[in-house]
Amino acid sequence: KVHKIAVIAGDGIGKEVMPEGLRVLDKVAARFDIQLQWSHFDWACADYYLAHGKMLPDDWFEQLRGFDAIYFGAVGWPDVVPDNISLWDSLLKFRRGFDQYVNLRPVRLLPGVPCPLANRKPEDIDFYVVRENTEGEYSNVGGRMFEGTDREFVIQQSTFTRKGVDRILKYAFELAQSRPKKHLTSATKSNGMAISMPYWDERVAAMAGQYPEVRQDSYHVDILAARFVLSPERFDVVVASNLFGDILSDLGPAVAGTIGIAASANLNPERNLPSLFEPVHGSAPDIFGKNIANPIAMIWSGAMMLDFIGNGDERYRQAHDVIIEAIEAVLVEGPRTPDMGGDADTTSVGKAIAERI
Ligand code: NAI
Ligand code: MG
Repeated sequence: KVHKIAVIAGDGIGKEVMPEGLRVLDKVAARFDIQLQWSHFDWACADYYLAHGKMLPDDWFEQLRGFDAIYFGAVGWPDVVPDNISLWDSLLKFRRGFDQYVNLRPVRLLPGVPCPLANRKPEDIDFYVVRENTEGEYSNVGGRMFEGTDREFVIQQSTFTRKGVDRILKYAFELAQSRPKKHLTSATKSNGMAISMPYWDERVAAMAGQYPEVRQDSYHVDILAARFVLSPERFDVVVASNLFGDILSDLGPAVAGTIGIAASANLNPERNLPSLFEPVHGSAPDIFGKNIANPIAMIWSGAMMLDFIGNGDERYRQAHDVIIEAIEAVLVEGPRTPDMGGDADTTSVGKAIAERI
């Protein structure tokens, strides 16, 4: 099978790390006899916006819907496009339009990465944050009244649907079931949010009944955030609503080292529309143009993409594992980009990882 992949490098360092992601994927695809066909799109960037007055062409959905995956760099160039426009009119359209309801972030302390927490070994921090990506607190239901008067008030509703909650929980339980520890932690706040979060807890309990092998616990999100920092070793899979997951999925990678290596996936597990794979970091205008961005987050996201399009096929799983092993070896032995204390450039790190493969 030939896998058609849409490549959108986007803005800033997205353009610098993308070639290294493609270099490594081409290398591993050749080794494992996996057919990847790249199609490049110059959308979702400041240059496209300057030329067309918008982030995407009107028929973006039709153009992209037939792809097996989207490999995405970063979007955002605040000097040219306000951040709310660049993000809402590109990446967020993809996530919602393609119903990518799972935002998946691995949190792993890789060997050779200095951990901000004391005395942690790589095997201590190895979990996933599973964030609901389409509903919850990030709804546009609400409004303002009596603007500019002293009666001014603002309402923003959260929306939790049975379908939306159950599908993210099912994904998280399946993931937990597939891992050695089989442990799922749910983020709640049913003491403060007394309508939506008790509902979330109820659905968690109902789903837990279908996964008797999975050990399940729940924590209020405030203490859960504290435990990410104090005892990350206690987690295996953490599932959370859109807002809670947004916060936890930035905190997780932060306790495991630099943002330059954190990877993520926006998944449509039904596979009827493309999923999107991207580094956690943005376009980093402060370092763009120097070729010093760390390409590892982009490369790791590419490994996640291979694993997902393989859909359980052992060859793709191995291809994923080989990329991670190559990343780990280069993190330990170098070369390293400046954010990791080295003086190598983006290209050298990408080439070093590709050579290991
Ligand atoms: P950022 O992630 O671009 O940068 C934060 C800091 O981390 C900067 O000091 C940067 O130099 C450093 N950094 C990021 N990636 C790095 C890498 N690969 N290697 C070495 N250092 C790295 O976040 P920031 O500065 O808040 O946002 C910049 C732009 O990116 C904004 O327009 C923002 O909206 C956009 N953005 C886009 C995202 C996306 O496309 N998913 C995610 C986050 C921000
Ligand atoms: Mg975030």
